[in-house]
Amino acid sequence: MKKRLTLILCLLLCCALCGLLTSCGNANKGGNDGYEDFVVVGFSQVGAESDWRNANTKSMQEALSEANGYRLILDDAQQKQERQITAIRNFIHQGVDYIVLAPTTEKGWETVLAEAKTAKIPVIIVDRMIEIEDDSLFTCWIGSDFLGEGRNAVRWMENHFDDQPLRIVHLQGNLGSSAQLGRTAGLEEGLERHPEWELVYQENGDFTQAKGQELVEALLADGVEFDVLYSENDNMAYGAIDALKNAGITPGKDVTIISFDAGRHALELVMAGEISYVVECNPLHGPRVEAIIQRLEAKQTPPKLTYVEEASFDTETITQTIIDGRGY
Ligand code: AHR
Repeated sequence: MKKRLTLILCLLLCCALCGLLTSCGNANKGGNDGYEDFVVVGFSQVGAESDWRNANTKSMQEALSEANGYRLILDDAQQKQERQITAIRNFIHQGVDYIVLAPTTEKGWETVLAEAKTAKIPVIIVDRMIEIEDDSLFTCWIGSDFLGEGRNAVRWMENHFDDQPLRIVHLQGNLGSSAQLGRTAGLEEGLERHPEWELVYQENGDFTQAKGQELVEALLADGVEFDVLYSENDNMAYGAIDALKNAGITPGKDVTIISFDAGRHALELVMAGEISYVVECNPLHGPRVEAIIQRLEAKQTPPKLTYVEEASFDTETITQTIIDGRGY
């Protein structure tokens, strides 16, 4: 009798241990951890540097919600690639079903994406692109044509200013990101075509409002004079506008401001005449990523690369209806 009781106790202990081990190591559908009814997605997000980024995170959270059948594990990398690499390794260890990566910079992803491939976890790249020789290391990409955005802004400058001499201040986004590389390349092409355009200042503002303000305050304190401010995102433009106004300079009149993203507040500033031209970069990727996952779940092959369609607005084309309809 005593022997039988010991045997039963041993069996119970083994079962408990097995259950514990399964739930620790594996977050995917087959696990015994409360995840079994969900598609588990690990999302490595760049950070929270801008309104664009926050709108992007929200869009992903709304689309990949539990109500829609997903468990989203969100990791904020605070604009640091090393943190993204660690996050992806954690996702692999947890055995997620999909990894979504919004990459900080283009380079340096080979090793960790090879690890995801070995673990047979599909990787969806969103927003910015990666530079990689072996494109079998990611399943597909969806995002913006950043060079096209830069070219679009330069076209507007060419139409607006004819052959007028221009002194240009250039606030860049975080260096090495596709958003920075494309928008900078667009401006550089314009500078090559227009010897009458002079780049009087170029600095990395990290896509943040605080840095945009700080840089413009510093250059105004140094007595730098300029006609055009080419800001690689809305938030740096907002910071620059505050710095200009504090110095008694009227944005839109004394200085022409060009920006990227076209969030609601930027559109309001276009309406108010403070920003002269804004090129859209659309952050609402959640439903697009969800549609890709649905196709993969159905064993279909989504297109390898998808560019999102984007518009642009100046003081003549902006309307209240456009502002009211803005989803970010
Ligand atoms: O990659 C998209 C860019 O990143 C947006 O233009 C910017 O606002 C964000 O931080």
